[in-house]
Amino acid sequence: MLNKTLTASTERILAKYDVTKIRFKQNCLIDTNEFTLTQLNCLFELTKFYQANIHETQNLYPVNQLKYVATLFYEASTRTKTSFNIALTNLGLKPINIDISTSSHTKGESLYDTLLTLKAMNVNLAIIRHSSSGVLNFILENYPDLNMKLINAGDGSHAHPTQALLDLFTLMEHEKNLKNKKIVIVGDILHSRVARSNIHLLNLIGADVHLVGPETLVPFSSAEIKATIHHDLNTALTNADFVMALRIQFERQNQGFIISVDDYVLKYQVNKHNLKLAKANVKILHPGPVNRNIELADDLINDQSISLIQKQVANGIQVRMACIAMLLKQDH
Ligand code: CP
Repeated sequence: MLNKTLTASTERILAKYDVTKIRFKQNCLIDTNEFTLTQLNCLFELTKFYQANIHETQNLYPVNQLKYVATLFYEASTRTKTSFNIALTNLGLKPINIDISTSSHTKGESLYDTLLTLKAMNVNLAIIRHSSSGVLNFILENYPDLNMKLINAGDGSHAHPTQALLDLFTLMEHEKNLKNKKIVIVGDILHSRVARSNIHLLNLIGADVHLVGPETLVPFSSAEIKATIHHDLNTALTNADFVMALRIQFERQNQGFIISVDDYVLKYQVNKHNLKLAKANVKILHPGPVNRNIELADDLINDQSISLIQKQVANGIQVRMACIAMLLKQDH
């Protein structure tokens, strides 16, 4: 009875925003650049509803609307993979976790053939992380008949939509109206799918976006990207409302993007000393995993009065539940 009430509430929220207005391109969630304010409002209302009812959400979504959901992580993940698994379980869906290291990928099977194979077994939603930027767009453009719902769980340096959505949700828990609020993203913007997806959403809601890092990692001009570009951290941090530090991606740093780790720490580490330049109630975020004492000083990470990092992780579950619920509402 309780589940029936909760399911009805989910349906009521989705109906309120009108399914035609929350429809995603090709019924897939590939990036945040396709989001409208209506979609965002719907997603965050659902997220809040799931937060308020988190202990009663088992079997919340009508399972019969979906057959099976597969997760395919071609790249390592702790947060995103676990969070999707919990989100699916909370919705009463049983995730099928494909172990890529023992799958037919090791025999050369392409992503498309793997998806086609799963579809033949009634999998109709696949959650995919991949090292190739744009791989999901490639699948959609080249195999339009696949007719399968896809969620991008991070593709190369291209996009990480659910991370950006949970980041924005976490920001808005602290500051309901982010219009003109100074949000500083620090670090390896060049390789960051998180930064790219965040910038789309922050622009959509009218935040004042600032990017900072060495020229090699922030090689953009304000003409190319809707943000203020800095290479001096102190200038960027001045009067900041929120600071999001990014991981130095050592696995993608084989071309000398930074002079040395020590040099990077000296110029771009966010710590309690340089954070004094920001607003008094500044909050820090990080998508994780963090290189402690490199992009962020250790004592900042653990300071719950400043750090929203654990909150980001926690919010990821309900934000992903809402993403899944919205996608499932869309029929092929
Ligand atoms: N933020 C993020 O994507 O973390 P994982 O790589 O652990 O999933």
